[in-house]
Amino acid sequence: MENKKVAVIVGSLRKESFNRKIANEMIRLAPKNLQLKIVEIKDLGFFNEDIEKSPPQEWTDFKNEIKNSDAVLFVSPEYNRTLPGVLKNAMEIGSRPPKENSWKGKPGAIATVSPSAIGGLGANHNIRDAAMSLDIPMMQQPAAYIGGVKDRLLEDAITVNEATEKFITDFMIAFEKWIQRF
Ligand SMILES: Cc1cc2nc3c(=O)[nH]c(=O)nc-3n(C[C@H](O)[C@H](O)[C@H](O)COP(=O)(O)O)c2cc1C
Repeated sequence: MENKKVAVIVGSLRKESFNRKIANEMIRLAPKNLQLKIVEIKDLGFFNEDIEKSPPQEWTDFKNEIKNSDAVLFVSPEYNRTLPGVLKNAMEIGSRPPKENSWKGKPGAIATVSPSAIGGLGANHNIRDAAMSLDIPMMQQPAAYIGGVKDRLLEDAITVNEATEKFITDFMIAFEKWIQRF
């Protein structure tokens, strides 16, 4: 199986973010030929069309990280039933300027994580919508709406419980197969 680089984008900037914890578990449990790395979005600043022709170094570095990856994985909370602004902002920055869309053609997958039971379904589908315009072919199934996240973590607050470990392992195996199709 060919090795593939996967850029992981976490849609929360919070230090103790559950999404970051689950992203780290996805990295741990992924098939070994997937080299996953969290690409940070906290220092990007707001997208502004006025400066996209002479972009800040952070934008260029971010775009290069995406361009140099074979695939992208979004792991995000839901804010007010949709995706967080920081994540949408990063999507914009990666997509510009015109004809330099860094996301183009990279196979992707989405996991949304929430303490609530619904598991960020609204955000999950809105990320999918936004990814259409970015030309990211998104894995359809299995879908990952990871609800009740507080009960999924063991006492160390890092490791997921057995049922969640099985779910994430299967999800990452499916994602690996999805990536290999491109
Ligand atoms: C502005 C805001 C809006 C939120 N809206 C939702 C929501 O629509 N659905 C949901 O499940 N949780 C919502 N939450 C709760 C988040 O799921 C919760 O804070 C979660 O821990 C955020 O993810 P993180 O732990 O990765 O930072 C909201 C939180 C904030 C701060």
